[in-house]
Amino acid sequence: MSKNIDPPYNTGEDFVYPDNFHDSIENYKKITGQVDDEGKKIGTNTETSGRYHTNWLNMMYPRLRLARNLLADDGVIFVSVDYNENFNCRTILNEIFGLSNFIGEIYWESKTKSQNTETAYNKLQPKAEMILVYTKQLKRRFNLIVKELKDYPLSDEQGNYREYPLEVMNATGIRGRETMIYDVSDGISTVSPPPGKQWKLGQDQVAAYKDSGNLFIREGKVIIKMRPEFERNETTEPFWGFFSKELGTAENAKSDLTELIGEHGFETVKPIDVIKRLIFHATEKNDIILDFFSGSATTAHAVMQLNADDGDSGKRKFIMVQLPELTDKKSTTYKAGYVNVSEIGKERIRRAGEKIKSEAGLFAQNLDVGFKVFKLDTSNIRKWQPDYDNLEVSLLDYVDNFVEGRTELDVVYEIMLKYGFDLTYSVDEFIVSEKKVYSVGYGMLMICLSNGIKPDVAEGILKRVKELSPESSRVVFKDNGFEKDSDKTNIKEILKVGGIKEFITI
Ligand SMILES: C[S@@+](CC[C@H](N)C(=O)[O-])C[C@H]1O[C@@H](n2cnc3c(N)ncnc32)[C@H](O)[C@@H]1O
Repeated sequence: MSKNIDPPYNTGEDFVYPDNFHDSIENYKKITGQVDDEGKKIGTNTETSGRYHTNWLNMMYPRLRLARNLLADDGVIFVSVDYNENFNCRTILNEIFGLSNFIGEIYWESKTKSQNTETAYNKLQPKAEMILVYTKQLKRRFNLIVKELKDYPLSDEQGNYREYPLEVMNATGIRGRETMIYDVSDGISTVSPPPGKQWKLGQDQVAAYKDSGNLFIREGKVIIKMRPEFERNETTEPFWGFFSKELGTAENAKSDLTELIGEHGFETVKPIDVIKRLIFHATEKNDIILDFFSGSATTAHAVMQLNADDGDSGKRKFIMVQLPELTDKKSTTYKAGYVNVSEIGKERIRRAGEKIKSEAGLFAQNLDVGFKVFKLDTSNIRKWQPDYDNLEVSLLDYVDNFVEGRTELDVVYEIMLKYGFDLTYSVDEFIVSEKKVYSVGYGMLMICLSNGIKPDVAEGILKRVKELSPESSRVVFKDNGFEKDSDKTNIKEILKVGGIKEFITI
């Protein structure tokens, strides 16, 4: 998994909530005076607070720590910042990821238009933003853009080759080495470097070419038969530490987004090509990319676009995380139906997916642009907290142990989470003896949350498991869902005999 994050830059205008992990989001926003009773933003991180940088760092630190835990061992993290917090951010990233895992800082030419404001006379006008790059392990290889493949136009009994005339360089200066000045012979003639020059390859390497029949001398020139297996047979563009405006600026990223989803209210949108380039360098085609400051979901858009560019082979997945930041009720964004930032992100993913699919044509057949949305919430399963003064009523209340208002599907996903199932697994439904059963991951987990369960339901589930033949299967029922206690015992036996790995009641 790789990560790309674009946190608020702490410009004094992008809000930052101090965190209190024991509270619900809504509550802590209210307590900390960040939002009013309607949940609307009322404050920003102001320089006069005296804790300007501290507030931002307090918000970032735990997130970056968690990010490191979640990152794959060979993963990469990209953090977008600007002059405001670049210095501080590197300090905490050095602490969390280790200074030796600092790969570099990309300067992205984010602005082309100048701003003729008062500060133009006493401050530098920023033209670039920075993207900090850290890895979890030092020895991480990046994918490079292949510019051209080298050509091997000649062939002999050993296979294809190209002629590479052994090159010379100055023998003076710090790269001068006496050991690089030697005679090369092909058994017929001998050549030595011109005065003041040395060979570019060492004597052992040249001897190896000669001994394997891959060296000869023609008209006083040493020629090596260079074969694809002797060298990197492609010329590549490096992972540059500078992204020019050709990859897109913040200005045109904003207008591209407006064209796609209408008025959105974002000032800090990243261009798709900038994010696509980062993901290209740092991921393989099946990797997962996490962005926990999703905003308008540029990262998701870039992942889908890169998968489409890869034709049928791109299968990267994205996880976007976004705080339910409300939009201003007076704004056109709100009036366009986007009540919070998450809604903007969701609509962007939908529209971008459709657009990419329609542009990808034939390749689009297997392109997956679907996504699932989850909201952070308390458990769907109730805790046993009886009112001891009114035990009879409490007992009746707790006959059903699911929290009121939650759907069966909510419970199904909670069970998946608890058993460590990937939330992207398919969830299909089927009916057995009039009871709905959920089949997760093609039969790996079967869940029935209905009441009045009798042995025929278990038999129907077993039949379906056999048809789907997963490697192993677990079956989950509601603890109070059985018609009779004896049914529960019978069902347990039926499933055991049928080869079910685990029978679970919740
Ligand atoms: C710079 S924007 C990201 C923009 C995004 N890259 C895009 O292209 O649209 C920063 C995001 O951080 C979120 N944010 C601000 N304060 C936060 C906090 N304390 N915790 C989590 N997210 C926060 C904002 O809601 C916003 O979506």
